Amino acid sequence: MKLFLDTANVEHVAEVASWAVLDGVTTNPTLVAKEGKDFKETVLKMCELVPCVSAQVTATDAEGMQQQAVEYSKWHKHVVVKVPMTTEGLKALRFCAKKGIRTNTTLVFSLPQAILAAKAGATIISPFVGRIDDIGENGMVLIGQIMEAWAHYKFTTEVLVASVRHPDHVIEAARLGAHIATIPYEVFKKLPLHPLTDTGIKRFLDDWEKVKHGS
Ligand code: G3P
Repeated sequence: MKLFLDTANVEHVAEVASWAVLDGVTTNPTLVAKEGKDFKETVLKMCELVPCVSAQVTATDAEGMQQQAVEYSKWHKHVVVKVPMTTEGLKALRFCAKKGIRTNTTLVFSLPQAILAAKAGATIISPFVGRIDDIGENGMVLIGQIMEAWAHYKFTTEVLVASVRHPDHVIEAARLGAHIATIPYEVFKKLPLHPLTDTGIKRFLDDWEKVKHGS
């Protein structure tokens, strides 16, 4: 399972990358706006830290998306072009697949959308589980549906669980066999922690003090 950080904060990427478990980063216009830094500079800095950085197109027509995809893909070989799940986006996905440009289809909320993006040649699809939870449904049900369908076919498109809100989303993503989860920094920081690990370390160190040892 690959773990990505969902952020446009380069310091946070550097910190989590230093733990030796980070496989990539996903950004979006909202996250980039929140940091208030130059988009291209941010993406390039992240590309030096991880092998897979999603950079989202802002055009809404296929031609515009394709132009941005070509531009972004020239910035760095670690760039993955994020394309919205629309019919124009599907055309852009096919174009990118033919050009060898890696893509991540964003704003996927249903199994038919997932299948269409995969058929159009998406490298990755991003179902947004948290936003489905927000409207009173269960986002992880969609991940289950997609993984069940994927088991029947030979789609090479990776399923990335996005809009993660808490560690349980990561646990469920792993149990369902999702290929990737993209995780906000505040949630990622919780993953290495367990109170029994802390008390266990303390007890070992306390007991070690009672042992005769050289240093
Ligand atoms: O990767 C997509 C993600 O950034 C959306 O998250 O919390 O805005 O639904 P959220």
